[in-house]
This record gives sequence, C-alpha cells and structure tokens, in this order.
Amino acid sequence: MLYRLPEMNDKSILQEYIQEHYDNNEFGISASLGLPVSEYADWVEKIQRNASVGDEEWGKSLLYLCFDDDKLIGLLSIRYELPENLTEEIGDIGYGVRPSERNKGYATAMLRYALSVCKEKGKDKVLLGCYKDNSASVTVIKKCGGVLVEENSNYNEGRISQYYAIKL
Ligand SMILES: CC(C)(COP(=O)(O)OP(=O)(O)OC[C@H]1O[C@@H](n2cnc3c(N)ncnc32)[C@H](O)[C@@H]1OP(=O)(O)O)[C@@H](O)C(=O)NCCC(=O)NCCS
Repeated sequence: MLYRLPEMNDKSILQEYIQEHYDNNEFGISASLGLPVSEYADWVEKIQRNASVGDEEWGKSLLYLCFDDDKLIGLLSIRYELPENLTEEIGDIGYGVRPSERNKGYATAMLRYALSVCKEKGKDKVLLGCYKDNSASVTVIKKCGGVLVEENSNYNEGRISQYYAIKL
C-alpha cells in the first residue's frame, strides 16, 4: 500500500470516497478530521500543518490517504504526539476503509503500518479506542496485538467504548 498526506488535487477522489459511505448509509467518515464539513483547501492546509508544525492541542499528527493500485482504500490518522488526556479519550490511531474494500485485510495492514510509524517516532505503547460492538475493528486491533485495558460508557450515550493497548 502507499501512504501519503492529502494534496489539493485529491478533492474528487475524496468526494467519491465520502459519497460511497453515504450510498451505504454511513454518515460518519472515520479518521477524516472533519473533511465532509470542511472547505477542502482549508482541510488540506490543516492536515499539512498538523504534519509539519503540529496543532496546539494534538501536537504533530499524520492523516494519510491509503492507496492500493492507485485506488483510495482508506484513511489513517496517526496522532503520535497526543497528550495523555486526549489519548485516553480518542486513542492514538484512527482508521476507516471504504465500504467496497472491507474484509480484505486493508485495515489490519493500515494499523500495522501506523504502529511502525509510532515506533519510529519513539513511542513504546499506543492506546486505541473502539466501540465494543464494532466487531470488525475489535478483530483488527486484537490481530495487531491489542490488549483490552478499559471499558466504559462515559463518552457516548449507550454505546460501550473499549480501550486497547498495544506495546511496540
Ligand atoms: C473497522 C474497519 C476499519 C475494518 O476494515 P477492514 O479493512 O474490513 O478490516 P480487515 O479486513 O483488515 O479485518 C477485518 C476483520 O474483522 C472480521 N470481521 C468483519 N466483520 C465482522 C463481524 N461482524 N464480526 C466479527 N468479525 C468481523 C473480518 O473477518 C476480519 O478478520 P479476519 O481477517 O480474521 O477474517 C471497517 O469496517 C470500517 O472502515 N468501518 C467503519 C469505520 C470504523 O469503524 N473505523 C474504526 C473505528 S475504531
């Protein structure tokens, strides 16, 4: 797979990516950092700024477009400088795969790549948040060595959140 930051001329492939979710009745785009409700140019600038100088709250982070054979497969958010309080809320890594490309091993490959990036950046552990009923994501996290460390329903009414730690 190829991983890279978004550029100005990726607008149409990202619109298509979002539309595919909507066509499948999915109205939240994981790891998109607000893309559907942002002005595209502002969003690209924000992502590029996050990668270079970082954000006041999040520190430096990467949002990668993940391609296979030139097709945009998924989005991968690697928040490798997140302060502890935010890590405990949103986790260090987020990802999503377009509906037509699921169950082909892509998220597992993307998470493994994110772990290698975090290790390279000097982290020795990451924390991942996931809803308990998101069986596909729980499977991906466990396949990458995730160990359940916490379970709660504090942050989202009714849905149980789980937190998994992965040692690097
Ligand atoms: C979660 C998500 C990223 C998984 O992506 P993916 O590319 O399909 O994941 P993979 O193919 O690498 O692995 C999925 C695994 O879950 C398993 N799986 C899929 N649906 C499942 C279900 N309903 N119950 C149990 N296991 C399930 C698959 O069999 C596969 O495991 P296997 O390789 O051992 O067979 C994708 O479903 C998605 O984008 N969902 C919406 C966004 C999201 O939930 N992001 C994660 C937030 S924590």
